[in-house]
Amino acid sequence: MKITVTSDTLTNLAVDLVVIGTSSLEVETDHPLSALESLLGKEKLKKLLADEGFKAKRGQTFRIHAPESMKARWIAVVGLEGIQGEGEIAFQLAAAAVGACRGQKTVAVFLPGDTPVTVESAAQGALSAAYKYTAHRSTKPEDEGPKAVSLVVKKESAELKKALNTGKILAEAVAFARDLVNAPPNELNPVRMAEIAQKDAKARGYGIEVYGKKELQQLKMELFLAVNKGSAIEPRMIHVVHKPKKKAKTRVVFVGKGLTFDSGGLCIKPADAMIDMKCDMAGAATTLAIVQAAARLDLPVEVHGVIGATENMSGSHAYRPGDVYRSYLGKTVEIINTDAEGRLVLADVLAWAVKELSPDYLVDHATLTGACMVALGNFRAGLFANDDAFAESYLAAADGENFWRLPLDAELRSQLESQVADLKHTGSRFGGTITAALFLKEFVGDAKWIHLDIAGPAFLDRPHGRHPKGGTGFGVATGVRFLRSLSGRA
Ligand code: BES
Ligand code: MN
Ligand code: ZN
Repeated sequence: MKITVTSDTLTNLAVDLVVIGTSSLEVETDHPLSALESLLGKEKLKKLLADEGFKAKRGQTFRIHAPESMKARWIAVVGLEGIQGEGEIAFQLAAAAVGACRGQKTVAVFLPGDTPVTVESAAQGALSAAYKYTAHRSTKPEDEGPKAVSLVVKKESAELKKALNTGKILAEAVAFARDLVNAPPNELNPVRMAEIAQKDAKARGYGIEVYGKKELQQLKMELFLAVNKGSAIEPRMIHVVHKPKKKAKTRVVFVGKGLTFDSGGLCIKPADAMIDMKCDMAGAATTLAIVQAAARLDLPVEVHGVIGATENMSGSHAYRPGDVYRSYLGKTVEIINTDAEGRLVLADVLAWAVKELSPDYLVDHATLTGACMVALGNFRAGLFANDDAFAESYLAAADGENFWRLPLDAELRSQLESQVADLKHTGSRFGGTITAALFLKEFVGDAKWIHLDIAGPAFLDRPHGRHPKGGTGFGVATGVRFLRSLSGRA
């Protein structure tokens, strides 16, 4: 899908469909709806809208044939009532324009403003709404969506062209993450994930190093390796890095949980809970996508991504409840439930990242606990932080994504005390998302750290807000926005 910025007038737009958004039926004289009113005759448009019960409510669309005086064939009016913020309005309007297409090939959408934020968000909205995962379909879907979308502004400028390009890069990063999450787990295993990362790093010009089983053994990452034991496929630790041309002052390290499939291991999941477990590498997908976007935008920040990729399976070598392993950091851990595998992989990867990369800021994304979904529902990620200022700046960067800060309650730490080792890795059912975070905290030392439990929003069974059904790419937009806020390029 091609997206461009144009300043053509309502009558001159030579497209199949023109889309106009409005939050009210009473509009200013410079609103495109006013221009349409004068083409149709004021009372006529009012009447048509009233007859159809169009009240500008969010989600309402109204379609008519364009009048003879226009080059376009169709017009759709989209309701925007109640949507807050210029970026959100532009995103939802452009998404609705793509949704309103129904077989039309070229679409022009009047943007509610001429700012870079509006253009950037509209480009993201259009591309996000057009996203489909079709890699394994033998027949293409009938309606392929529009081929070209023009974003209509009053005046074109180099600044707006740049914003368009930024919006595209962000949307492509989100789509990259969604594709990885949606890919079936027999195809997207740890080895394949590393290959995809390698290919992308080469294409986009960022750095990569991949560690195989032998290297992880040399590094003595016993927790990570324990999770891999029941799988026939080798694990991979994938380290990607964007270094700006001019040496950066700040280094941000993202860490991602990359469980390409989580069966639960010997503590096997029931079938209903296993069906979506290809999504357990969503943290890895988000991490890779953030580094990709940072490289393409050439952000003046050093950005690392470190991923622990493995399956959690129940093969004959599988790790067991009762086993004890020594972590990369040196602390020993008693295994309680083999389905709490993510925190084991992350513990070793986080400790490695802290030791080898000395981050100024450390952020992990992980589909870590069902308990987080019990606490916050499907649409919100849990955020844990050991630094208040860092937590606030991350929450301030949230971009069309919802987070909620949860406490790292020290009182619950006693749940992790073991009779045989330094730590056990799970506590009771109560506060399950917190004890998982407390376990991770044992491995980050005094790095400024945020843990994002994205188990809910990473994979949805129905569309919500900016996100489609299936893999969402949750966390990419906010992660990149945080990086831009550091470099003053918000
Ligand atoms: N990958 C799951 C968490 C999850 C659940 C992600 C649902 C996405 C949707 C994680 O590895 C897991 O199994 N966690 C257990 C932990 C428990 C055994 C302490 C859980 O949440 O039940
Ligand atoms: Mn699990
Ligand atoms: Zn898991």
